[in-house]
Amino acid sequence: MSLQIRALIFDLDGVITDTAELHYQAWKRMADEEGYPFTREDNEALRGVSRRESLTRLLKGRVIPEEKALDLMERKNTYYVELLDTITPAYLLPGAADFLNEGRTAGFKLGIGSASRNARTVLTRLGVIDLFDALGDGYSVVNSKPAPDLFLWTAGRLGVYPQNAVVFEDAEAGVDAAKRGGFWTIGISGGTDAGRERVNQATMILPDLVDVTVTDVLEQLSTAAQG
Ligand code: BG6
Ligand code: MG
Repeated sequence: MSLQIRALIFDLDGVITDTAELHYQAWKRMADEEGYPFTREDNEALRGVSRRESLTRLLKGRVIPEEKALDLMERKNTYYVELLDTITPAYLLPGAADFLNEGRTAGFKLGIGSASRNARTVLTRLGVIDLFDALGDGYSVVNSKPAPDLFLWTAGRLGVYPQNAVVFEDAEAGVDAAKRGGFWTIGISGGTDAGRERVNQATMILPDLVDVTVTDVLEQLSTAAQG
C-alpha cells in the first residue's frame, strides 16, 4: 500500500521546539506563590493539554472560584510570555529545521496544530513561521486535544483530507486527537521510555527528527501502516 500523503502537520511544543521546561518554570512560579506543590514530574502530565486543563491537573482536585482560576492562568501566562523573550532559532529541536525545509521543498503542505495560544509568538521567535501554510493554535477551536477538532481545522485550512496527512506529536492527548480525526500519526518520543509510552498509540514512533528525510519517514510509515 502506498500512502497518498500531501500534508505534514506538526505539534509545536515537544516536536519543533522544547518549551516544556519554560511552561514548567512559569507554572512553578505561580504554584510557589500560591503554596501549591508542583514538581517537574507533575509537569509531564501537562504536555499537549490546554492552559485550562493544565491548571485543573496542577490543582489535583483542589476546588477554587472561577475568578481565581482566571487570575492563576493569566499570571502563569504572563510569566511564560516573559520567558519566551529568551527564545531564538537555537531553540529549534535538532533536525526540525532541515525536516521542515525538506518537506516544503518536496511540495508538501505544512501545518501547525498546537494547543498553545502563544504558538504564533514561538514560531516567529524560532524564525520558522513563514514555512507554514496554516497555523492552528489555542485560538482556532473550542475543543482542545484529545478532541480531533484542531487537527481537522488545520487540515481544512490546508485543503487536505485526514487520510492524506500525517500528524507529528509528542503527547498522548495529541496522538489521541490525531487518531480520532483519522490522521496518520508519528509519535516523537525524545528517545526516552516515558516518551515512547506517551505516544505508543501512534502509527510509528521516532526519537526525534535528526538525520531522517521526509521520504524515508513516509516509507517507514507506509510499512508500519500495513502492520
Ligand atoms: C501546548 C503545551 O502546546 O500548549 C501545553 O504542550 C500547554 O503544555 C498548551 O499547556 C497551552 O499553552 P498556552 O501557551 O496557550 O498556555
Ligand atoms: Mg507537544
